[in-house]
Amino acid sequence: MENFQYHNPTKLIFGRGQLEALKTEIPQYGKRVLLVYGGGSIKRSGLYDKVMAVLHEMGAEVVELAGVEPNPRLTTVNKGISLIKQHHLNFILAVGGGSVIDCSKAIAAGAHYEGDMWDFVLKKAVPQSAVPIGTVLTLAATGSEMNGGAVITNWDEKDKRSFGSIHTYPKFSILDPELTFTVPLDQTVYGIVDIMSHVFEQYFHASSNAPLQEQIGESILRSVMETAPKLIEDLENYEYREVILLNGTFALNGTLSMGVKTDWATHMIEHAVSAVHDIPHGGGLAILFPHWMRFVSQQKPEKVAQLGERVFKLDPVGKTAEEFAEETIQALRSFWNSIGAPARLDYYGIDDKELELMAGRAMVRDTIGGYVPLTKEDVSTILRNAL
Ligand code: NZQ
Ligand code: ZN
Repeated sequence: MENFQYHNPTKLIFGRGQLEALKTEIPQYGKRVLLVYGGGSIKRSGLYDKVMAVLHEMGAEVVELAGVEPNPRLTTVNKGISLIKQHHLNFILAVGGGSVIDCSKAIAAGAHYEGDMWDFVLKKAVPQSAVPIGTVLTLAATGSEMNGGAVITNWDEKDKRSFGSIHTYPKFSILDPELTFTVPLDQTVYGIVDIMSHVFEQYFHASSNAPLQEQIGESILRSVMETAPKLIEDLENYEYREVILLNGTFALNGTLSMGVKTDWATHMIEHAVSAVHDIPHGGGLAILFPHWMRFVSQQKPEKVAQLGERVFKLDPVGKTAEEFAEETIQALRSFWNSIGAPARLDYYGIDDKELELMAGRAMVRDTIGGYVPLTKEDVSTILRNAL
């Protein structure tokens, strides 16, 4: 293992009817609230009315930022920063999925910074503080509810990048499985793919002797794969929703990355595809991950084989490492096909026209990926294989 420090300051408030906790949590930080939400799902589900009722009951002053896009945009972040400054707000409540939470984190850090918030993603500046945030999560996918990261799209530049800070961890996150009942089938599937992909990004690490981290990752994959086929047939099942919700949080709250050098190349490639074509994050990952695995297994087939044996319960006897890795990749592809995840970029109408632009955008450094470092040429090959 590598040396590491672990510090996750987010309070997790999990279960039915936990919205009431807003009344005791928010006043600890401030009652001048920026309420951030997306394109309307919380109005249709009735959650907006419930949140407003609680906020009014506790005497909060509320300013709203509605319409945060899936793949949240810098322009929307900047609107939120202006609202914080104009109304002297001292707390941000994010009600929604990863996009709403990420947008809120960028607003939180940007409101305490004199320059352009995009400086954080370009690593020209580091957040020194942030407006405190709380979240009410409505979609199991990103883990943003219990980490300090945020991914923002600069649509003018066709660029999508992340930044992270200890200051942008939510102070608390409310996770009520019932609030995810209304997530439609396609978004439910994208969330499942994202959760599994977060495990892969950390499971395929470049360190040694990390059995605990790997076996927690395998447990997450197994419990997601056991539950997902049942959930997609029964979207309002509380027990299935709660399993997926908690797995989503633990897949990306720092537990799996303790002491290991993680990969993340596939996420960088997917972010580049989303930046140019504005596709759902989980849909992009479902297309790209098997191709990434096939590419890296040519150099390092062992870990893919470990995944096949321990998670997909395949039998390696009588097969070469390469053959067994390919069988594992096929098993992953079949599983994602079986729950309705897309398999080719063509599904979103993406052809090779902007392939080099996407490959270039993915290269946030000279090479990307901790498990197997990829050059731009490697990334182009993976994208071409995924067309
Ligand atoms: O906008 P509304 O109307 O709320 O609808 C959303 C949106 O259309 C809808 N939705 C959310 N909760 C719902 C619901 N519909 C019905 N009922 C509900 N309860 O679902 C759609 C997608 O929402 P979004 O927030 O975009 O999805 P997700 O949570 O998958 O977030 C995706 C974003 O997070 C980033 C992605 O790149 C992408 O921009 N990521 C953030 C990470 C992080 N901060 O740690 C890590 C991830 O790897 C990821 O990159
Ligand atoms: Zn992701």
